[in-house]
Amino acid sequence: MAPKNRIIIDTDPGVDDVLALLLALSASPEELEVAMISVTYGNVPLQSCLRNVVALFHVLEKELSWRESVGKTSGAYGALRAFKPIVAVGASHPLEDEEIIADYFHGADGLHGVHAAHPHLSPDDTWRSLFADIAGEPSEAALPPSYSSFFTPSKTPSHQEMLRILREEPEDTITIVAVGPLTNVALAAAEDPETFLRVKELVVMGGAVGVKGNATPTAEFNCYADAIAAARVFALTSPVPASTMPPVFNNLHNLAPYPAKLPRRLKLSLFPLDITTPHELRQRAFDDKIKSLLESGSPLAQWTNTFLTGTFNQIKAMLGQASDEGLSLHDPLCIWYMLTRDDPAWKPVAKPEDIRIETCGQWTKGMHVVDRRSRLKANEETTIETHPEDPLDAVKFDEVPGDTLGWLSVNKGNRINRIVASPGEDIFGTVLLQRLFD
Ligand code: RIB
Ligand code: CA
Repeated sequence: MAPKNRIIIDTDPGVDDVLALLLALSASPEELEVAMISVTYGNVPLQSCLRNVVALFHVLEKELSWRESVGKTSGAYGALRAFKPIVAVGASHPLEDEEIIADYFHGADGLHGVHAAHPHLSPDDTWRSLFADIAGEPSEAALPPSYSSFFTPSKTPSHQEMLRILREEPEDTITIVAVGPLTNVALAAAEDPETFLRVKELVVMGGAVGVKGNATPTAEFNCYADAIAAARVFALTSPVPASTMPPVFNNLHNLAPYPAKLPRRLKLSLFPLDITTPHELRQRAFDDKIKSLLESGSPLAQWTNTFLTGTFNQIKAMLGQASDEGLSLHDPLCIWYMLTRDDPAWKPVAKPEDIRIETCGQWTKGMHVVDRRSRLKANEETTIETHPEDPLDAVKFDEVPGDTLGWLSVNKGNRINRIVASPGEDIFGTVLLQRLFD
């Protein structure tokens, strides 16, 4: 039976990204197929993110052997056994800005020093020859014999692998789950928007709409890391993408505007901090779950214990509390959605929202701007001129009295399905522990 969902995960592993990848790979083959893992810079630099992905498969290989040796046959990780995802390397920095990283939270290697703590659980360095060197030129080293039976390394930039998969697979069969900066997604959409729009749905962890940011007072980390990329991707949800495209400044990748006519609009489901933050993994629940597994030698328990204990300690240090800390499961929540999306408890906002990304603000870059005025939308379509060559006048709206920047016109602005309810913020931590460790 074909899996219900076939996904590409674009990720910057970090701690919660690794939990999201483990949740996806622990699924049954009927629930989910991970067709590709696309690696982006983000929480830590690209090389460290890539090493963490390779290490994840290395640990899972050891975990499955250990489970067999101790007769633990729960059937978990069926998706890992049944499919062999591609791992491809993406962007090493944002489209236009300076790279920012979040190693203060995730640790310098992205997993709180797990590689140094457990060298026997870390891949040897031959893995580096599996991928194009980070400059994007295929490395000269011959590919070693199949490095892992669990993934296929690619030497093609990940945004081009995304387009290849979308081109080769039937339309509306692949979902992209983006849980890091949107640079790779934006590069794919810019290179071949018609092929990109064959995607069934783009699920995005990012933004802060009605709550405070976590990178700045107004911006969430993934969006702040590449606001231009986010704005370019969000614009594809608009009836007129030019109405919300960001001004063009350095245009380091020489990205063109989208064609005036596109085959359809992008379906984007957004998981901002508003919904992700309350879905927590409590430290005591984690410690209780893995205690016996640690004692009996589970490689996965040992590996996750190191980086999650480091994370909980960092949360304590940041919040000055010494109680039962909670780690917000930002990225895993998007995977839970993919596994249980038929559950009616998942609810988007009643009507897709016009959420626009601030890209120029000195203090507000990355902010998710919504119009909270109770103003009626104009009921006629209005025209738009675009001047992409003029960075400060990228879009010229026709003057509709009182409708500055087109917030009130029916054919302008973005259409974002912001998710506002889940099957339960109080149960997700337990669900995650069961799926990863039972
Ligand atoms: O703001 C939370 C997001 O930023 C998560 O994806 C986390 O992994 C970091 O990338
Ligand atoms: Ca992430």
